[in-house]
Amino acid sequence: MADTFLMTTTTAAAPAKRNRVDDETETKKKLATATQNGTVFNPATSLANARHEFGEHGGVNMSIEASVTFTVMEPETLRRMFAGELGPDRDFFVYSRHFNPTVLNLSRLMAALEGTEAAYCTSSGMSAISAAILQLTSTGEHVVASRTLYGGTHALLTHFLPRTCNITTTFVEISDIEMVDEAIIEGKTKVLYFESVSNPTLSVANIPELCRVAHRKGVTVVVDNTFTPMVISPVKLGADVVVHSISKYISGGADIIAGAVCGPASLVNSMMDLHQGAIMLLGPTMNPKIAFELSERIPHLGLRMKEHSNRALVFATRLKKLGFKVIYPGLEDHPHHELLKSIHNKDYGYGGLLCIDMETEERANKLMSYLQNYGQFGFMAVSLGYYETLMSCSGSSTSSELNSEEKVLAGISPGLVRMSVGYIGTLEQKWNQLEKAVSRLQEYGFPNKN
Ligand SMILES: Cc1ncc(COP(=O)(O)O)c(C=O)c1O
Repeated sequence: MADTFLMTTTTAAAPAKRNRVDDETETKKKLATATQNGTVFNPATSLANARHEFGEHGGVNMSIEASVTFTVMEPETLRRMFAGELGPDRDFFVYSRHFNPTVLNLSRLMAALEGTEAAYCTSSGMSAISAAILQLTSTGEHVVASRTLYGGTHALLTHFLPRTCNITTTFVEISDIEMVDEAIIEGKTKVLYFESVSNPTLSVANIPELCRVAHRKGVTVVVDNTFTPMVISPVKLGADVVVHSISKYISGGADIIAGAVCGPASLVNSMMDLHQGAIMLLGPTMNPKIAFELSERIPHLGLRMKEHSNRALVFATRLKKLGFKVIYPGLEDHPHHELLKSIHNKDYGYGGLLCIDMETEERANKLMSYLQNYGQFGFMAVSLGYYETLMSCSGSSTSSELNSEEKVLAGISPGLVRMSVGYIGTLEQKWNQLEKAVSRLQEYGFPNKN
């Protein structure tokens, strides 16, 4: 069935079947396209160039195709669709756990956002991650992954995949390219997996270098770009596949759980295969009504990202001046500042997340409690990308799946407060609230300006 469902007319080589020479050439080609004709890839331009789907009656918005199943004029057409001779590229749809027109339209926007040949959306970020990894690996095969990952992904790789599928993972320090290279077992390692900016420590991955190392050994690079949509475009830096938790910035409303896999059409089509497809057979299907909702939010993602980044940089700079231990890759003293500066899309800043290391969980809790209940600055909650500021102590929440030793290796201090900076109100209004809350902390002797 695979070949008929290509999203575009070009066919990419299946990632699993590449050889070394092709892979290195491909990385170079991708890096070259990123700066083709002297113009750098701009996700906003790419989104504006994506096909605009009008509604059935000429509405400026597309209609929602809510049907589970699709009728045909001739019985032969059904047979041909199941045989893979007719597909969504020619407007033939079978059943909405397979391609659905509204979900496909959102997926086209996701492909445009990431500059990939194709994409498909799923019911959560976790299902996008697990489907992508399961599609690219088989039992007995191996993944090399960053040791600093969202807790759910870490647990998937540490516990779930070895138990259920005999797919094992070696965790590495992703900034140590030599360690990554050594961990890759040629022939056995199929995926190199990392986050473009790590959750929660905000380390920046050297995507071009990591891709070079992986591609030399025929390994597919999968990048979770949840923290930095528009800010970083991993495929334009050499990566093969991007996964997203759309539940965060792309949705922006903290009201929808959703995900996406963006990559070569061959991969997306293989995920929909009737016999072997991880999305088709495991069924993490996105509801078309949700796809419609989300497609209405993508056009203002760029504006939102700019303001998230702008405020995060201002607050990080000012908090640092107040004596707090601030981790933000937009600050010059961040160890990966120069790297991020060299790979980010300049218009979108350095991302909307910052961390304050309060060293102990008790202090972290005090800070968050003052910020929410005294300063009215934000909400104590996990997740990110909302218009209000959200803050959580990562070690005891979204990274609690990691054991103590894994947390130390991942660089997660027990007092690390991750803050997703919102854009509601005015910047100065929110700063006043923040300053009021943190000044109360001084009664307790911190920040400790030593
Ligand atoms: C970086 C990252 N990736 C993936 C996920 C999982 O996404 P979802 O909650 O949409 O399944 C999260 C959730 O917090 C995350 O932070």
